[in-house]
Parts: sequence; structure tokens; C-alpha cells
Amino acid sequence: MRSPRIIVAAAFVATAACATEKAPAVAAADAKAVSFNEAAWKPHREADIPNDSMGASIRRGLYLLRFTPESLPAYATGNLRCTSCHQDDGLKPTAAPLTGSHARFPKYMPRSGAVIALADRVNYCFTRSLAGNAIPVGSREMTDLLAYMAFISKDIPVGTKIAGADGLISMPDTLEGDVARGEALFTAKTCTTCHGATGEGVGPVPALWGPKSYSVGASMTRLERAASFIKHNMPQSAPGTLTAQEAFDLSAFINSHPRPDSPGKENDWPMGGAPKDVPYDTKGHPAFHAPPLIKRANPRGSLVPNPPVISRGTR
Ligand code: HEC
Ligand code: HEC
Repeated sequence: MRSPRIIVAAAFVATAACATEKAPAVAAADAKAVSFNEAAWKPHREADIPNDSMGASIRRGLYLLRFTPESLPAYATGNLRCTSCHQDDGLKPTAAPLTGSHARFPKYMPRSGAVIALADRVNYCFTRSLAGNAIPVGSREMTDLLAYMAFISKDIPVGTKIAGADGLISMPDTLEGDVARGEALFTAKTCTTCHGATGEGVGPVPALWGPKSYSVGASMTRLERAASFIKHNMPQSAPGTLTAQEAFDLSAFINSHPRPDSPGKENDWPMGGAPKDVPYDTKGHPAFHAPPLIKRANPRGSLVPNPPVISRGTR
């Protein structure tokens, strides 16, 4: 009966050591949280990735963000990649930045009517924005993506919403888009040069509509959301040169074209309250300019179920 006592003693020593070592560390973290200086904060970039196992995971996550269809062809089935929208490796403030996402989740999403973890949010973009399939939540690839997102959120206190890093910048909701004006602008403003005359994408330039583009369930199908992206980031060669009205017209034109369906979309906003420009029917909300839909090859893969409630009974 000697060995259990030794283990107990060893465990006690370990706990005691932890207690003395931990106290200052926690105090230091608290001090940091209080002094978080948003104006001075800068996200880590690729050059800051450490050369160790953690760094390898972060780097894989970054490359998955950049080379999504090349790395995961069974999951990213279109020609969009994460950085097609989350430009500059997810760091660009006007392009739905991922800086701070790790500190903002889990969070309640009215669209799901549930509290969602960051991994599920990633899968919403796989299934809706990439019109692809959800990747397994326990996979190394998901861990790597989360590792990269944690890396670019370093030092942002949990629960902090940093300015300009929570979705796309809001646009005036008084503007409307005109499809015919948008069509003329699409050529006049050089969009065709890179995205192709039929919006199908050319080489590494992503598709704006058609079977390889984002699905109807993506935020980008909302008139105001795509207008914000376009206004602040396009044309890629001269961003910031379009007026808000031009961006709304271009958004209306792009989003009038066929795109992949998003199975289960009718269950979005289960409590009601969908934004007015959501292009499909949801509870209490009639579709806003619904585009023609292209059937999904793998409708089951495109679903991200809400977190299940587990029984309190014994397993
Ligand atoms: C078609 C454009 C598009 C593509 C492609 C895309 N996303 Fe997104 N994503 C968005 C938009 C837009 C938002 C923010 C929605 C909003 O404004 O509320 C978003 C939000 C997110 C968020 C939540 C950010 C936050 O803090 O709330 C995560 C995480 C995310 N995307 C990850 C990814 C990953 C990973 C990929 C690649 C697998 C990807 N996205 C591909 C458009 C896209
Ligand atoms: C110089 C080339 C170029 C021009 C011109 C250009 N784009 Fe883009 N666009 C891109 C690239 C490249 C991306 C992907 C983001 C990246 O890699 O930085 C993109 C992404 C987009 C996206 C989000 C991803 C997607 O496929 O849905 C939209 C929407 C978009 N562009 C609309 C437009 C519109 C509208 C115009 C004209 C006003 C335009 N672009 C002009 C190169 C261009």
C-alpha cells in the first residue's frame, strides 16, 4: 500500500507548485486585459508564425484559408476560397475580417436561433459561402483553421468586439439596387476584366454567380452585404472608387443570377426577424428578389445542424 500514498504526496506537491506558479500568471493576464489597447493592437502575420508544432498547425490553417479548393477538393467544390472574401489572409478590415473571431465565439446567432461555436461558424462558410460540404469538426483541418484564427486574435480579450472587425461594414439601408444599371456598370467598371463577362471567374479570380459561386444561403447574397463588400474592396485594381449607389446596383445585378441552393435555408431565423434583403422565405419573411437556384450535388453535406442537446442520463 506504499505506492498510492506516494502518488498522493506527489500530487499534493504538484498542486502546491501550481498554486504558487499560477498566481502571478493570472494576475499578469488580468493586467493585460485591463490595458488592452485597441488602437495599438496589430494582428500577427505569416512572418510571426513560430517554428514549432503549434506554428505548423497555424501555417496549415492559413494555407487552408488561401488554398481551400486545392487542399480540400471534396469540401470546397466551387472555385471560391476563404480568402476570396476574407481578403489579406482574413486581416483586411473591410472584407469581413477574421481578427478577433476567436474572442467572439461561442455566440448567439439569430440566423441559427442557437449559440454557435467557432467551428460551426467555419462550417457555415464551407456550406454556404463556398457552396461546399461541412468539414468534420474533430478533424485536423478544422483544428488548424481554428489555430490560425486564434493566432490572428492573439491578446484580444474574450468577448471583446474590436471596432471594424465584426462582419462587413454596414451600408445605408435606404438605398436600392437596379439590375439594369448594375449590368452596365459591370462592364464599365472593369469587373468583366477579371471575373469574366459571364461572371464565371477566370483562373484564380472567383466566380460571382453560377454553379461554382457562393450559395443562396451566404451573406453575400444579401443586397446590402454584397454592396458593402463591393464598395470597399472592388474593383480589385481601384477599390474605393465606386459610389454606394453603384455598389448597390452591381450587387443587385450579381445577385439576380442563378447560384447553388442552400438546403434547409427555410429554417433560418427560426424566431423570425430575418433582415429585409434575405433572398429566400423564412419565418414571417417573404423572399427578397429570389435568384434562380441550382440544385446541390450533396444536399446532406451542406447542412450544419444546430448543436444537439445530450441526455443527462448515464451513457
Ligand atoms: C462568399 C464570401 C465568403 C467566403 C468565400 C467565405 N466567407 Fe466567411 N464570411 C463571409 C461574410 C460576408 C461573413 C460575415 C457575415 C456578416 O457580415 O455578418 C463571414 C463570416 C465568417 C466567420 C465569422 C466571423 C465573425 O467573427 O463573426 C468565420 C469564422 C468565417 N467567415 C470563416 C470562413 C472560412 C474558414 C472560409 C473558408 C472555408 C470562409 N469564411 C469563406 C463571407 C465569406
Ligand atoms: C483586377 C481584378 C479584379 C477586378 C477588376 C474586379 N475584381 Fe472582384 N475580385 C477579384 C479577386 C482576385 C477576388 C478575390 C479576392 C482576392 O483574391 O483578393 C475578387 C472578389 C470579388 C467578390 C467576392 C468573391 C466572389 O467571387 O463573390 C465580389 C463580390 C467581387 N469581386 C465583385 C467585383 C465587382 C462588382 C467588380 C467590378 C466593380 C470587381 N469585382 C472587379 C479581382 C477583381
